[in-house]
Amino acid sequence: MRSLRAGGPRPSVWAALALALPLAACEPTNQGYAPPQPIKYSHAVHAGGLRIPCLYCHYGAERGRHAGIPPASVCLNCHRQVLPDHPEVRKVREAVEQQKPIEWARIHQLPDHAYFSHQAHVRAGVVCQTCHGPVEQMGRVAQEAPLTMGWCLSCHRQGSQRAGAGFGAIPAAQANRLTDCGVCHH
Ligand code: HEC
Ligand code: HEC
Ligand code: HEC
Ligand code: HEC
Ligand code: HEC
Repeated sequence: MRSLRAGGPRPSVWAALALALPLAACEPTNQGYAPPQPIKYSHAVHAGGLRIPCLYCHYGAERGRHAGIPPASVCLNCHRQVLPDHPEVRKVREAVEQQKPIEWARIHQLPDHAYFSHQAHVRAGVVCQTCHGPVEQMGRVAQEAPLTMGWCLSCHRQGSQRAGAGFGAIPAAQANRLTDCGVCHH
């Protein structure tokens, strides 16, 4: 519950929500969840050190609901030449040769009844790190945000408080629309 209050919405709104949605308010979060992955891929090396843009691999984020995980062939764009004999790279090449997709463990996942679209957020200028934290420093990706309804609503009401996110307050008229239940529950 503390994370819901961090954004500072009016207490009356939370009182109403807490009465209406006791279960939603107590929902445990998966913050910090960082499952092991089948291949040791590092965002710190690629998005941090090498500065490969997020959208080079997660191009779906601009185009639709899902950011998507790049197919192994995208890794080979570079790794046919770079470190071809590295044991982890060899696993990638085998996956491509055997036409077996790599079974990356999913980290962020909303329940089916909640609708989220990357495109709406990316087009509005909300940067990845606002919701995912400093991924470019992560050796292994961990879920940073709680992804609860209260977390979504606090930004839809008043914009992100996070400094340097390149994204300010949402105008009142728009905020009213963005808190309609139907926006996220179809
Ligand atoms: C070279 C390709 C590549 C680049 C560049 C890249 N990623 Fe990824 N990303 C991956 C792969 C592969 C996975 C799946 C394995 C993992 O979780 O590390 C992934 C996983 C993720 C996940 C977790 C997905 C889940 O299951 O919930 C997030 C969030 C993410 N990336 C965000 C970013 C952000 C933000 C950037 C830029 C700072 C970025 N990525 C740059 C390839 C890339
Ligand atoms: C407004 C918050 C927000 C922003 C901004 C955002 N994400 Fe996400 N991301 C989420 C949520 C929520 C999920 C879980 C979605 C679901 O389960 O339907 C997710 C899931 C993902 C996943 C795994 C599932 C999928 O959709 O493919 C990846 C990879 C990912 N995000 C990468 C990115 C990248 C890269 C960016 C920037 C280009 C980005 N995200 C921007 C909130 C955000
Ligand atoms: C745009 C080029 C590019 C792409 C795309 C790319 N890599 Fe790399 N990768 C590199 C370079 C360059 C290095 C060497 C970095 C160094 O030695 O400092 C590297 C290093 C690595 C290493 C060894 C270093 C470490 O992290 O321990 C692994 C493993 C690796 N990449 C896996 C992958 C996987 C898996 C993908 C696809 C999801 C991928 N790479 C996509 C350029 C790329
Ligand atoms: C950091 C701020 C922020 C967070 C966190 C956030 N959103 Fe948004 N959301 C926005 C902005 C900005 C827009 C775009 C408004 C526009 O373009 O009119 C938006 C738009 C949307 C839209 C499209 C609405 C439409 O019809 O145009 C949906 C759906 C949505 N968000 C769902 C979610 C869900 C679900 C979550 C939580 C998992 C979430 N958002 C978290 C800022 C945020
Ligand atoms: C900005 C997006 C957004 C809006 C607007 C929104 N919700 Fe949600 N809602 C979510 C997300 C994401 C979840 C799943 C995460 C959670 O349970 O906190 C959720 C979960 C729920 C749940 C399930 C709680 C549980 O314990 O499983 C109910 C019930 C619900 N919402 C009702 C509503 C009602 C009623 C409204 C309108 C007053 C509303 N929501 C508006 C995003 C939203």
